[in-house]
Amino acid sequence: MNNPISDQSRRIVVLGTGGTIAGSSAKAGANVGYTAGTVPVTALLEGFSAPDGFELHVEQVAQIDSKDMDFTTWRSLHERCQYWLAQDDVAALIITHGTDTIEETSFFLHSTLNATKPVVMTCAMRPATSTNPDGPQNLRDAITVASSPDATGVVIVCASEIHGAKEISKTHPYRLNAFNSGDAGPIGYVEEGRVRLVRQWPQEAHVSTAISLPAADNWPRVDIVLSHAGTRGEIVNALIREHQENHTDAAAGIILGATGNGSLHQSLEQAGLAARDAGIEVLVATRCIAGHIIPSLSEKLPISVDLSPVKARIALLLKLISKDHK
Ligand code: SIN
Repeated sequence: MNNPISDQSRRIVVLGTGGTIAGSSAKAGANVGYTAGTVPVTALLEGFSAPDGFELHVEQVAQIDSKDMDFTTWRSLHERCQYWLAQDDVAALIITHGTDTIEETSFFLHSTLNATKPVVMTCAMRPATSTNPDGPQNLRDAITVASSPDATGVVIVCASEIHGAKEISKTHPYRLNAFNSGDAGPIGYVEEGRVRLVRQWPQEAHVSTAISLPAADNWPRVDIVLSHAGTRGEIVNALIREHQENHTDAAAGIILGATGNGSLHQSLEQAGLAARDAGIEVLVATRCIAGHIIPSLSEKLPISVDLSPVKARIALLLKLISKDHK
């Protein structure tokens, strides 16, 4: 799918949301123990020039540590993306974001935007005040991807790799190349200012991009409960009780984080079945970081074949929102 960039559609809009890329530390050069989301996105881009034929336009949408990502921020980020993508002179978006939940925000945007232009998310593992920050190179690589003529869809650029929103997970707490896309691998690489693609740019998501997102307070609650050695059903049973007692913020959905090929501890499976019978939407997703669940047709609960628990949660959240707001 070609990105229709005309002569006048040449702005690359950079939306800042915080993260380590915008982090700073009082301790000169420190790479840990800093505060994420303190340096304005305009400052991150100081000294950067746009590629020939493009202009950079910068907007601060949020300034947070992405561990604290919330529905209010997602909703305003979604609104700003929709706004800018609709402008004829905008060729691409870049979003600076923390690494901790970039896999969630990217999947949320992939699922809700009609991203026929590139939406390039980038981040850093070291704060802006580090002696050797990785953010500036990642930003440069993101600009390369954003200005690449065929690029499309929501992608994540970090440590010279380009990942798809559906496949990416953060798999390392410290290394600069902290991300992995499992069996799929990266979409491509950025090498000396050039994109080398090894598979297709992301296809548009099948989730309704016409979704209308309600005010953040009205998003349904979807919780994740992991299956593990010695699991007991109590957490799910507590969610069922809240649901039956009509608590205002009772969970409308539960993701069961399964072991291996979708298997659940028997006590969690029993609780999951009871939750489903009580009217809570239950979905099973594997804890394994690579591969898909291969359905056996003997599953008692619905499964998400190819999403991690955190992404299955977003898929269920959006399904519940669409159901409530038809
Ligand atoms: C964050 O996710 O905002 C902090 C951690 C990071 O960006 O690496």
